[in-house]
Amino acid sequence: MHLIKNKNLCLLLTLFLFIGLVSTAFRSKTRIENRSGIVKVALDTTKTDKETGLVTDPNLYMVKAQCTSCHSSKLIIANRFTRDGWKQKIRWMQANHNLWDLGETEKQVLDYLEKHYAPTATAARRKPLNDIKWYKLEEQ
Ligand code: HEC
Repeated sequence: MHLIKNKNLCLLLTLFLFIGLVSTAFRSKTRIENRSGIVKVALDTTKTDKETGLVTDPNLYMVKAQCTSCHSSKLIIANRFTRDGWKQKIRWMQANHNLWDLGETEKQVLDYLEKHYAPTATAARRKPLNDIKWYKLEEQ
């Protein structure tokens, strides 16, 4: 090192370079975090009805009319069923709790429940194995 004669100056330059590298690394990391933060906020904009807490939807008025006169909408929000599961719940209330025949409006109610209160996948699972070739373990 003949260009930089002073050893201390050389050390100092290396230090600055190091600090520079480290801070750039951290800055780009926070930038990525910020970006994903914005994505999260953008995804979490499901609008809910103030009165009932149910997800807003063109069919919500019917669900409010048919499903919130006996009990709180919290019973709906707390549950997740398939379309068939919701249908069974309705039949169960009709058989045991004097729920009336929903008639034509049942489709609207089920459309709504299936769209917004269906079971959500909690964990990704691999597909079931098929075409397995089993083999016998031989004693050695
Ligand atoms: C005529 C009254 C009545 C109406 C209208 C009504 N329910 Fe219910 N529902 C009940 C009763 C009673 C229960 C039992 C409450 C309890 O266990 O405390 C119940 C329970 C529930 C439960 C909880 C079921 C469980 O397994 O715990 C859900 C979900 C539900 N109702 C959804 C709905 C939906 C969706 C509608 C609209 C189609 C609706 N209810 C309309 C009377 C009604």
